[in-house]
Amino acid sequence: MPLTADEQVLRHDVIVLGGGLAGMRAALEAARGGADVAVVSKVYPTRSHSAAAQGGINAAFSAEDSWEKHAFDTVKGSDYLGDQDAIEVLCREALQDIMELEHMGVIFNRNEDGRLALRPFGGAGFPRTCYVADITGQAILHVVWEQLVKARITCYAEWVATSLVVQDGRCRGLVALEMRSGKLHTLEAKAVVLATGGLGRIYEPSTNGLICTGDGMALAYRAGAALMDMEFTQFHPTTLYPSGVLITEGARGEGGYLLNSKGERFMATYASQRLELASRDVVSRAEQTEIEEGRGVNGCVLLDVRHLGKKVILTRLYQIYELAHDLAGVDLLEEPVPVRPGTHYQMGGVKTDVDGRTSMPGLYAAGECACVSVHGANRLGGNSLLETVVFGRRAGKAAAEEVRQVPFAGLSSAPGRDEHAHITELLQRGERGGLRSAVVRKEMGNAMREGAGVFRDSEGLAQTLETVRGLKGRYQKVAVQDKGGIFNTDLVSLLELGNMLDLAETMVVGGLARQESRGAHFRRDFPERDDINWLRHTLAFYTAEGPRLEYAPVTCVRWQPERRTY
Ligand code: FUM
Repeated sequence: MPLTADEQVLRHDVIVLGGGLAGMRAALEAARGGADVAVVSKVYPTRSHSAAAQGGINAAFSAEDSWEKHAFDTVKGSDYLGDQDAIEVLCREALQDIMELEHMGVIFNRNEDGRLALRPFGGAGFPRTCYVADITGQAILHVVWEQLVKARITCYAEWVATSLVVQDGRCRGLVALEMRSGKLHTLEAKAVVLATGGLGRIYEPSTNGLICTGDGMALAYRAGAALMDMEFTQFHPTTLYPSGVLITEGARGEGGYLLNSKGERFMATYASQRLELASRDVVSRAEQTEIEEGRGVNGCVLLDVRHLGKKVILTRLYQIYELAHDLAGVDLLEEPVPVRPGTHYQMGGVKTDVDGRTSMPGLYAAGECACVSVHGANRLGGNSLLETVVFGRRAGKAAAEEVRQVPFAGLSSAPGRDEHAHITELLQRGERGGLRSAVVRKEMGNAMREGAGVFRDSEGLAQTLETVRGLKGRYQKVAVQDKGGIFNTDLVSLLELGNMLDLAETMVVGGLARQESRGAHFRRDFPERDDINWLRHTLAFYTAEGPRLEYAPVTCVRWQPERRTY
């Protein structure tokens, strides 16, 4: 069955691209605002990567805490690159959003006295991470999905967006491939909200699901929207060897230790006050240093939770107990598990304001694919789930308000037919035995890990850029071996690879240009933070020759940059 283009245009006031938490929350709010909403998602929404978020979601619920303290910790965690006006919104609105989740039916863990249980997380001055054992994202995702079902929001599941439709500088919709039928659909909207999550699969390995290929960021970039701070990629300190699967920070929040080959709690050397609960960039660099200086254990350090006891491990950390057992052959009750820093989260993304508006009229973004910027150069654990609900809600509300004033443009199915011609050309490329997208993807992932990892320098970044650009050339020769239209995952992999290569280029070009160390971007050749020259955001704009960079100021409302220690 060949690929076909549907002549009928599907119309909705607001189309949300992405069925994870940010997308669902945006869709729900847009529907509450009176808009006719549809979600377009590459996977069935409850299979979105939000389900992999383990440790929790932050809000200053305890008596000694406050949203201002949460905001300060977030600013400090961001290494002062986060925009403080946006961080204020995140931390102020956290409480109402988490209470709303609770009222929707999320069964957060509670203390003996019945209050919400809070666990300490890295870089946080107080325990402020609400959790559902170590399956917090999954628990929230399923409950919010129930709300979408209740609101009868249309969902096009297993539809892959191939391009945005832009007319006279305004986003008017998108073209998407329905995987089950092999049909290309033109979807018209008065506003599109991108909520496609992260791009972690640009690296190998990664904590991210295979679906995290930066699709929304790449579509926006190619359509002319600005990407921001793409050089800032987070490496989570505790990922399993060799799979890269996440072992939650909740393990250290509950009191787990990190040990080197000598059995030392080495974090005392790097962060004497917060130890294992310093921010992620600090802990990942410490681990990498221990490993590089010969105090690692087979390229890892050890995470030890045995002293927490069976009850805590099997109730609050049972998912990682199973993961360690199934993927590393380790019984956490009996022995420590080897872990190492792994790619986890993209701080950069499509530049937005606090209501999700991007630089392109009609186009919004929320969640990991957006850069508001609340995470700056380093995100605190527990602020990602929070970002999805706060800024998903705000983007959905703003989009619903805007579309009341915007008429449909009356798109024809021409964009779908154009995409049909383009994708048919891709399908015709190469025969059996030709270059596979998986091969190029692996080379890209290895090059990014080696040259744009926890520690970077100009030589490694320049080499990585050369590799990525070489792979972009080879991409033109990747063969699609499945020539059919029905559930063609080979074709989808090719489209995803094209997205990842474009984004990888922005990450490396931005990293080469930024001659300082800040948060997760640590340049061995420029080891200090340089606030005089680099307290600014990097913007990347698409050109056929590669990204064009511009810079934008950071909003500092309350807190001026200080030396950052933990
Ligand atoms: O470690 C974790 O549970 C991850 C949390 C996060 O990235 O926010």
